[in-house]
Amino acid sequence: MRKLFLIGIGSGHPEQLTLQAVRALQGLDVVFVLDKGELKQELSLVRKLICERYIERRDYRVIEVDDPVRDPAVPDYTTRVEAWHAQRASIFETLIARELQDDQSAGLLVWGDPALYDSTLRIVQAVQARGQISFEYTLIPGLGSIQALTASHRIALNRIGGSVLITTGRRLREQRDFERSDDVLVMLDGECSFKHVTGEWEIFWGAYLGSQHELLISGKLKDVTSEIERARSAARAQHGWIMDIYLLRKSGARTQATLDTPTPDR
Ligand SMILES: C[S@@+](CC[C@H](N)C(=O)[O-])C[C@H]1O[C@@H](n2cnc3c(N)ncnc32)[C@H](O)[C@@H]1O
Repeated sequence: MRKLFLIGIGSGHPEQLTLQAVRALQGLDVVFVLDKGELKQELSLVRKLICERYIERRDYRVIEVDDPVRDPAVPDYTTRVEAWHAQRASIFETLIARELQDDQSAGLLVWGDPALYDSTLRIVQAVQARGQISFEYTLIPGLGSIQALTASHRIALNRIGGSVLITTGRRLREQRDFERSDDVLVMLDGECSFKHVTGEWEIFWGAYLGSQHELLISGKLKDVTSEIERARSAARAQHGWIMDIYLLRKSGARTQATLDTPTPDR
Protein backbone atom coordinates (compact mmCIF):
# COMPACT_ATOMS: atom_id res chain seq x y z
CA MET A 1 0.00 0.00 0.00
CA ARG A 2 1.25 3.49 -0.82
CA LYS A 3 1.72 5.70 2.22
CA LEU A 4 1.35 9.44 2.48
CA PHE A 5 2.62 11.46 5.44
CA LEU A 6 1.33 14.97 6.06
CA ILE A 7 4.12 16.35 8.17
CA GLY A 8 3.86 19.59 10.13
CA ILE A 9 7.25 21.23 9.82
CA GLY A 10 6.91 24.22 12.14
CA SER A 11 6.54 27.82 11.09
CA GLY A 12 9.92 28.84 9.75
CA HIS A 13 12.65 27.61 12.06
CA PRO A 14 14.17 24.29 10.95
CA GLU A 15 14.56 23.22 14.59
CA GLN A 16 10.83 23.41 15.22
CA LEU A 17 10.41 19.92 13.79
CA THR A 18 9.30 17.28 16.27
CA LEU A 19 11.19 14.01 16.68
CA GLN A 20 8.12 12.29 15.27
CA ALA A 21 8.36 14.47 12.14
CA VAL A 22 12.08 13.74 11.75
CA ARG A 23 11.46 10.01 12.03
CA ALA A 24 8.71 10.20 9.40
CA LEU A 25 10.98 12.24 7.09
CA GLN A 26 13.69 9.63 7.34
CA GLY A 27 11.40 6.95 5.94
CA LEU A 28 10.33 8.87 2.84
CA ASP A 29 11.04 7.85 -0.76
CA VAL A 30 9.53 11.00 -2.22
CA VAL A 31 8.86 14.52 -0.97
CA PHE A 32 6.23 16.57 -2.76
CA VAL A 33 6.79 20.33 -2.66
CA LEU A 34 4.02 22.55 -3.91
CA ASP A 35 5.70 25.75 -5.00
CA LYS A 36 3.49 28.81 -4.85
CA GLY A 37 5.54 30.81 -7.33
CA GLU A 38 8.29 33.37 -6.95
CA LEU A 39 6.93 35.10 -3.87
CA LYS A 40 6.89 31.87 -1.87
CA GLN A 41 10.15 30.44 -3.16
CA GLU A 42 11.72 31.05 0.19
CA LEU A 43 9.16 28.77 1.83
CA SER A 44 9.96 25.98 -0.63
CA LEU A 45 13.61 26.52 0.15
CA VAL A 46 12.97 26.01 3.88
CA ARG A 47 11.26 22.71 3.04
CA LYS A 48 14.20 21.57 0.93
CA LEU A 49 16.70 22.57 3.62
CA ILE A 50 14.71 20.55 6.15
CA CYS A 51 14.93 17.48 3.87
CA GLU A 52 18.67 17.91 3.39
CA ARG A 53 19.21 18.33 7.09
CA TYR A 54 17.04 15.53 8.42
CA ILE A 55 16.80 12.84 5.75
CA GLU A 56 19.96 10.77 6.04
CA ARG A 57 19.41 8.50 3.07
CA ARG A 58 20.41 10.23 -0.16
CA ASP A 59 18.18 8.37 -2.59
CA TYR A 60 14.94 10.20 -1.82
CA ARG A 61 13.42 12.34 -4.54
CA VAL A 62 11.99 15.86 -4.27
CA ILE A 63 9.20 16.51 -6.73
CA GLU A 64 8.30 20.15 -7.17
CA VAL A 65 4.96 21.10 -8.57
CA ASP A 66 3.48 24.50 -9.34
CA ASP A 67 0.60 25.18 -7.03
CA PRO A 68 -2.42 26.36 -9.08
CA VAL A 69 -3.54 29.90 -8.35
CA ARG A 70 -7.07 30.79 -7.31
CA ASP A 71 -9.13 32.19 -10.16
CA PRO A 72 -9.85 35.87 -9.33
CA ALA A 73 -12.66 35.85 -11.92
CA VAL A 74 -14.80 33.71 -9.57
CA PRO A 75 -16.47 36.35 -7.37
CA ASP A 76 -17.69 34.17 -4.48
CA TYR A 77 -14.88 33.36 -2.03
CA THR A 78 -16.09 29.86 -1.07
CA THR A 79 -16.70 28.83 -4.70
CA ARG A 80 -13.27 30.19 -5.64
CA VAL A 81 -11.54 28.20 -2.89
CA GLU A 82 -13.52 25.03 -3.67
CA ALA A 83 -12.53 25.20 -7.36
CA TRP A 84 -8.92 25.69 -6.30
CA HIS A 85 -9.08 22.68 -3.95
CA ALA A 86 -10.50 20.51 -6.77
CA GLN A 87 -7.57 21.50 -9.00
CA ARG A 88 -5.11 20.70 -6.26
CA ALA A 89 -6.79 17.33 -5.62
CA SER A 90 -6.30 16.38 -9.30
CA ILE A 91 -2.63 17.34 -9.05
CA PHE A 92 -2.15 15.25 -5.90
CA GLU A 93 -3.93 12.31 -7.47
CA THR A 94 -1.65 12.40 -10.52
CA LEU A 95 1.44 12.79 -8.36
CA ILE A 96 0.64 9.85 -6.10
CA ALA A 97 -0.24 7.61 -9.04
CA ARG A 98 2.79 8.62 -11.11
CA GLU A 99 5.56 8.99 -8.55
CA LEU A 100 4.79 6.41 -5.90
CA GLN A 101 5.17 2.67 -6.24
CA ASP A 102 2.95 0.38 -4.26
CA ASP A 103 5.23 -0.04 -1.24
CA GLN A 104 6.63 3.52 -1.17
CA SER A 105 6.06 6.51 1.11
CA ALA A 106 5.69 10.15 0.19
CA GLY A 107 5.70 13.21 2.38
CA LEU A 108 3.82 16.46 2.10
CA LEU A 109 5.61 19.01 4.20
CA VAL A 110 2.98 21.27 5.66
CA TRP A 111 3.77 24.69 7.07
CA GLY A 112 3.12 24.93 10.83
CA ASP A 113 0.46 22.46 11.90
CA PRO A 114 -1.54 20.66 9.20
CA ALA A 115 -4.76 21.09 11.21
CA LEU A 116 -4.68 24.87 11.31
CA TYR A 117 -5.81 26.93 8.30
CA ASP A 118 -4.32 24.54 5.82
CA SER A 119 -6.13 22.71 3.05
CA THR A 120 -3.70 19.80 2.54
CA LEU A 121 -5.62 17.39 4.77
CA ARG A 122 -8.97 18.16 3.10
CA ILE A 123 -7.41 17.69 -0.33
CA VAL A 124 -5.83 14.36 0.58
CA GLN A 125 -9.21 13.24 1.94
CA ALA A 126 -10.87 14.39 -1.29
CA VAL A 127 -8.39 12.36 -3.35
CA GLN A 128 -9.11 9.29 -1.26
CA ALA A 129 -12.86 9.81 -1.56
CA ARG A 130 -12.60 9.86 -5.36
CA GLY A 131 -11.45 6.23 -5.08
CA GLN A 132 -9.16 6.30 -8.13
CA ILE A 133 -6.00 5.34 -6.24
CA SER A 134 -5.55 3.62 -2.92
CA PHE A 135 -3.21 4.88 -0.23
CA GLU A 136 -3.02 5.31 3.53
CA TYR A 137 -2.26 8.64 5.13
CA THR A 138 -0.88 9.73 8.49
CA LEU A 139 -0.96 13.20 9.98
CA ILE A 140 1.99 14.37 12.03
CA PRO A 141 1.37 17.51 14.06
CA GLY A 142 3.66 20.49 13.82
CA LEU A 143 4.39 23.63 15.76
CA GLY A 144 2.01 26.25 14.41
CA SER A 145 2.53 29.97 14.01
CA ILE A 146 0.36 30.59 17.09
CA GLN A 147 2.98 28.89 19.27
CA ALA A 148 5.74 30.71 17.40
CA LEU A 149 4.02 34.05 18.14
CA THR A 150 3.44 33.41 21.83
CA ALA A 151 6.99 32.08 22.33
CA SER A 152 8.61 35.06 20.62
CA HIS A 153 6.55 37.55 22.62
CA ARG A 154 6.88 35.42 25.76
CA ILE A 155 3.16 35.56 26.44
CA ALA A 156 0.49 33.00 27.26
CA LEU A 157 -2.13 32.61 24.56
CA ASN A 158 -5.09 32.63 26.94
CA ARG A 159 -5.73 34.58 30.07
CA ILE A 160 -6.52 32.68 33.25
CA GLY A 161 -9.58 30.54 32.57
CA GLY A 162 -10.25 32.53 29.42
CA SER A 163 -11.14 31.56 25.89
CA VAL A 164 -9.45 32.70 22.69
CA LEU A 165 -11.10 33.27 19.32
CA ILE A 166 -8.98 32.19 16.36
CA THR A 167 -10.04 33.97 13.21
CA THR A 168 -8.89 35.49 9.93
CA GLY A 169 -8.33 39.06 8.81
CA ARG A 170 -11.30 38.77 6.45
CA ARG A 171 -13.67 37.73 9.25
CA LEU A 172 -12.29 40.41 11.54
CA ARG A 173 -13.19 43.07 8.95
CA GLU A 174 -16.40 41.63 7.59
CA GLN A 175 -18.12 39.63 10.33
CA ARG A 176 -16.91 41.51 13.35
CA ASP A 177 -17.58 38.33 15.36
CA PHE A 178 -14.59 39.16 17.50
CA GLU A 179 -16.43 41.87 19.37
CA ARG A 180 -17.69 39.49 22.05
CA SER A 181 -14.19 38.11 22.68
CA ASP A 182 -11.48 39.49 24.92
CA ASP A 183 -8.61 37.64 23.24
CA VAL A 184 -8.54 37.29 19.46
CA LEU A 185 -5.86 35.56 17.44
CA VAL A 186 -5.80 36.70 13.82
CA MET A 187 -4.18 34.87 10.90
CA LEU A 188 -4.29 35.23 7.12
CA ASP A 189 -4.60 38.98 7.19
CA GLY A 190 -3.16 40.68 4.13
CA GLU A 191 -4.82 44.00 4.90
CA CYS A 192 -3.88 45.07 8.41
CA SER A 193 -7.49 44.54 9.51
CA PHE A 194 -6.57 45.51 13.06
CA LYS A 195 -6.78 49.14 11.95
CA HIS A 196 -10.59 48.77 11.86
CA VAL A 197 -10.73 47.65 15.49
CA THR A 198 -11.77 50.35 17.92
CA GLY A 199 -11.63 50.44 21.71
CA GLU A 200 -8.88 49.66 24.14
CA TRP A 201 -6.83 46.69 22.95
CA GLU A 202 -3.26 45.52 23.15
CA ILE A 203 -1.68 43.89 20.14
CA PHE A 204 1.14 41.33 19.90
CA TRP A 205 2.18 41.21 16.23
CA GLY A 206 4.81 39.01 14.59
CA ALA A 207 6.01 38.41 11.04
CA TYR A 208 8.42 35.84 9.54
CA LEU A 209 8.37 34.14 12.95
CA GLY A 210 11.19 31.71 13.54
CA SER A 211 13.18 32.98 10.58
CA GLN A 212 16.14 35.32 10.41
CA HIS A 213 13.77 38.11 9.26
CA GLU A 214 11.52 37.84 12.32
CA LEU A 215 9.73 41.09 13.26
CA LEU A 216 7.91 41.71 16.52
CA ILE A 217 5.87 44.70 17.65
CA SER A 218 3.61 44.96 20.67
CA GLY A 219 1.82 47.68 22.57
CA LYS A 220 -1.50 49.50 22.81
CA LEU A 221 -3.26 48.98 19.49
CA LYS A 222 -3.92 52.66 18.88
CA ASP A 223 -0.28 53.55 19.65
CA VAL A 224 1.34 50.97 17.36
CA THR A 225 -1.14 50.61 14.45
CA SER A 226 0.83 52.89 12.11
CA GLU A 227 4.16 51.43 13.18
CA ILE A 228 2.97 47.92 12.27
CA GLU A 229 1.53 49.10 8.95
CA ARG A 230 4.82 50.78 8.05
CA ALA A 231 6.96 47.82 9.16
CA ARG A 232 4.70 45.41 7.30
CA SER A 233 4.76 47.23 3.99
CA ALA A 234 8.53 47.89 4.15
CA ALA A 235 9.24 44.21 4.90
CA ARG A 236 6.89 43.05 2.15
CA ALA A 237 8.62 45.33 -0.34
CA GLN A 238 12.03 44.07 0.79
CA HIS A 239 11.31 40.32 0.75
CA GLY A 240 8.53 40.14 -1.85
CA TRP A 241 6.18 38.32 0.56
CA ILE A 242 5.11 38.39 4.18
CA MET A 243 3.34 36.15 6.67
CA ASP A 244 2.14 37.74 9.85
CA ILE A 245 -0.09 36.89 12.78
CA TYR A 246 -1.27 38.76 15.85
CA LEU A 247 -3.06 38.48 19.14
CA LEU A 248 -5.49 41.24 20.11
CA ARG A 249 -6.06 41.41 23.83
CA LYS A 250 -8.83 43.62 25.20
CA SER A 251 -7.40 45.88 27.88
CA GLY A 252 -8.72 45.52 31.38
CA ALA A 253 -10.77 42.36 30.73
CA ARG A 254 -10.65 39.77 33.49
CA THR A 255 -11.39 36.08 33.57
CA GLN A 256 -12.01 33.77 36.45
CA ALA A 257 -8.83 32.71 38.21
CA THR A 258 -10.50 29.65 39.71
CA LEU A 259 -10.84 28.04 36.27
CA ASP A 260 -7.10 27.96 35.70
CA THR A 261 -6.23 24.75 37.49
CA PRO A 262 -8.31 21.80 36.34
CA THR A 263 -9.52 19.40 38.99
CA PRO A 264 -8.40 15.86 38.19
CA ASP A 265 -11.14 13.41 37.23
CA ARG A 266 -11.78 10.77 39.84
C1 LIG B 1 -2.23 29.17 5.30
S1 LIG B 1 -2.00 29.64 6.96
C2 LIG B 1 -1.06 28.30 7.54
C3 LIG B 1 -1.00 28.21 9.03
C4 LIG B 1 -0.12 27.07 9.52
N1 LIG B 1 -0.69 25.79 9.21
C5 LIG B 1 0.16 27.16 11.02
O1 LIG B 1 -0.02 26.16 11.72
O2 LIG B 1 0.57 28.22 11.48
C6 LIG B 1 -0.85 30.94 6.79
C7 LIG B 1 -0.95 31.95 7.91
O3 LIG B 1 -0.26 31.46 9.04
C8 LIG B 1 0.41 32.52 9.70
N2 LIG B 1 1.86 32.21 9.68
C9 LIG B 1 2.41 31.03 9.31
N3 LIG B 1 3.72 31.04 9.49
C10 LIG B 1 4.04 32.25 9.99
C11 LIG B 1 5.26 32.86 10.39
N4 LIG B 1 6.41 32.22 10.32
N5 LIG B 1 5.21 34.11 10.87
C12 LIG B 1 4.05 34.76 10.98
N6 LIG B 1 2.86 34.25 10.61
C13 LIG B 1 2.84 33.00 10.13
C14 LIG B 1 0.05 33.79 8.96
O4 LIG B 1 -1.07 34.35 9.58
C15 LIG B 1 -0.29 33.28 7.58
O5 LIG B 1 -1.15 34.17 6.91
